[in-house]
Amino acid sequence: MSEAVQHKDRLRLYFDGIGFERWSAIYGQEQLSPIRRSIRDGHAAMIGQAASWLEERRAGFPNQPMALDAGCGTGLFTIVLAKRGFRVTAVDIAPQMVAAAQCFVQELGIDSEVEFATGDLETIANAQNAPGAYDVVCCFDVLIHYPQSDFVRLCTQLATLSRNTLLLTYAPFNPLLAAMHRLGRYFPKNHRHTDIQMIPDHVVEQTLAAAGMQIQRHSRVSKGFYHVTLLEATR
Ligand SMILES: C[S@@+](CC[C@H](N)C(=O)[O-])C[C@H]1O[C@@H](n2cnc3c(N)ncnc32)[C@H](O)[C@@H]1O
Repeated sequence: MSEAVQHKDRLRLYFDGIGFERWSAIYGQEQLSPIRRSIRDGHAAMIGQAASWLEERRAGFPNQPMALDAGCGTGLFTIVLAKRGFRVTAVDIAPQMVAAAQCFVQELGIDSEVEFATGDLETIANAQNAPGAYDVVCCFDVLIHYPQSDFVRLCTQLATLSRNTLLLTYAPFNPLLAAMHRLGRYFPKNHRHTDIQMIPDHVVEQTLAAAGMQIQRHSRVSKGFYHVTLLEATR
């Protein structure tokens, strides 16, 4: 098994086990430690920013635009897309995440707008979708778990699937954050978060340019232990 396949397999096991408990708590309503609450707050700020960028572009899309939520997790952005009139394909490698997202959209009565798939976004993308299959491709806090070589491949794949807009987050390289992540490993086990893989900005820019996309805007979202760059690229 290649290193990349083994890495994905580890992530699948993590997000379908202890990672599901940890992240569904962060994305939910229950009481959290200050560290995890900062991650919840940062993530909520990022989702809010992405939703407002999407809203600004909404008028430029066709009547029933298509969106891919790649690595949908518990479906927090899937519902943003469905509520804004997108036909959404929501994909996640962890069956427990997909099940939670399915429950969420059913409770909201918007399940007819969403098609779920359980599996690796790369495999599903390769098997089912022609280039440019979606008006909008979203991938939030997924690529932050992949080292640079995987990041470049996955980001290129996601860009290829988008005929118009790509919204994604990555963890920007920053020496101070590198030290914070090292420090994070010394917190008690139940406070630990997954390894975050930082990617230099120029690698992201080069990857998207090579895939024929231009970065339109980006925003650093930093709160406590949550640090990502949200970007919007278009074709
Ligand atoms: C930190 S969560 C983010 C969830 C969601 N995007 C959000 O922001 O609310 C990362 C998610 O990516 C999923 N994931 C990781 N690698 C994936 C892959 N190769 N294909 C599909 N999903 C993946 C995990 O199972 C997990 O649900």
